[in-house]
Amino acid sequence: MPRGALKLAIIGGGSSYTPELIEGVLKRREFLPVSEIHLVDIDQGREKLDIIHALATRMVAKVGADIKISASTDRREAIKGADFVMTQFRVGGLKARASDERIPLKYDVIGQETTGPGGFAKALRTIPVILDICRDIEELAPQAWMLNFTNPAGLVSEAVNKHTKVKSIGLCNVPVSMRMMVAEMMGCQPEELQLEFAGLNHLVWVLKAWLNGEDITETVIEKVGDGANFSMKNIFEEPWDPDFLRALGAIPCPYHRYFYQTDAMLQEEKESAGEQGTRAEQVMKTEASLFKLYQDVNLDVKPKELEERGGAYYSDASLNLVDGIYNNRNGIHVVNVPNNGAINTLPDDAVIECSAVIGNWGAKPIAVGELPANIKGLLHQVKAYEQLAIEAAVFGDYDKALMALANNPLVPDIKRAKAILNDILRENAEYLPQFKLTTL
Ligand code: G6P
Repeated sequence: MPRGALKLAIIGGGSSYTPELIEGVLKRREFLPVSEIHLVDIDQGREKLDIIHALATRMVAKVGADIKISASTDRREAIKGADFVMTQFRVGGLKARASDERIPLKYDVIGQETTGPGGFAKALRTIPVILDICRDIEELAPQAWMLNFTNPAGLVSEAVNKHTKVKSIGLCNVPVSMRMMVAEMMGCQPEELQLEFAGLNHLVWVLKAWLNGEDITETVIEKVGDGANFSMKNIFEEPWDPDFLRALGAIPCPYHRYFYQTDAMLQEEKESAGEQGTRAEQVMKTEASLFKLYQDVNLDVKPKELEERGGAYYSDASLNLVDGIYNNRNGIHVVNVPNNGAINTLPDDAVIECSAVIGNWGAKPIAVGELPANIKGLLHQVKAYEQLAIEAAVFGDYDKALMALANNPLVPDIKRAKAILNDILRENAEYLPQFKLTTL
């Protein structure tokens, strides 16, 4: 990678999360020579983009950094010559997310934006768009690294790896948040911990944890079972059963609650959808007040109200990765990359979320070999669902789509799978040109 001024292109730059990213860049300017951040969004997002542009410009001016902030709806202009392209967009906005969350609930199935049928619907809308973006990167910035945050991040990353030549790494804030929470419960600094992550995005386990060389896996499992804080703002903190955790022998991620405690999570979702709306409907309100705050011409820092969102530490995850690549640090990060033998029962091209060594040459997953039966079954089933969902999204294939849902462990039977699928295709018709929807 050439040394010197770096250009970052942020696709979905009008997101309410962007100030977090700007703060991440500013915190690292001693060793990351970013000279331009180009925020790009679609026409419908113009108003938000302008607000974020103005706030980002004020944040940069406050610290006196020499960084040009550009904003436009011209994606090709943003990508041209970029060193890093960060993708964080939401096809269909929060309205589509609300429908992803509500459709499954009608059938007594978990309604969540990234797991179960909700994540599936999001994958159908998102994968064609990311492949389109990748074609622009292949043409206009073939040397660039694409760092993808767009959900469902694991499926999106696998689609990119299988169908494009773009150098890409998928990212999520869950692993970094888990590290912070383990540090809090152990009363240590996050850097003192060594955590061995393996699994899939939003289905990742910490297989082993060490503190200064001492194996603390059992202690952490015990603390999580005792009710230590171990969730994200967007996930209901249903207490874990300590006996189950001990038997599992690994530390699950907050999203595992949907798989291991489905009944309780579903019950809670149904209640809160009735009382205060689904998560998307709640987030719409948070977003409206965030954008009101962002318009204050005196605001020149990331406001702490942004912490109400589930994406805590996302800028640390992504800017640390930029640092790891640009400065060739060869450190360990948790990323979504092709398996290449790391979990020896999964295919090489299956994207997994795992600890990996990162340098300017790319990412090398740290091998964990064969996972215990406790973990393997769920992991393989979700991967089968993901692979079918990706094919359905790329080729607009109804049969693959139906089999994807039928294989999703959160969907209990095919009658419901079919009804949910038909609702998803109907409600998302405008975003799914790859499907021929004449019969629905
Ligand atoms: C989590 C996930 C992200 C997701 C976010 C949603 O932290 O890891 O993938 O985008 O929460 O948060 P929200 O505030 O939008 O519900």
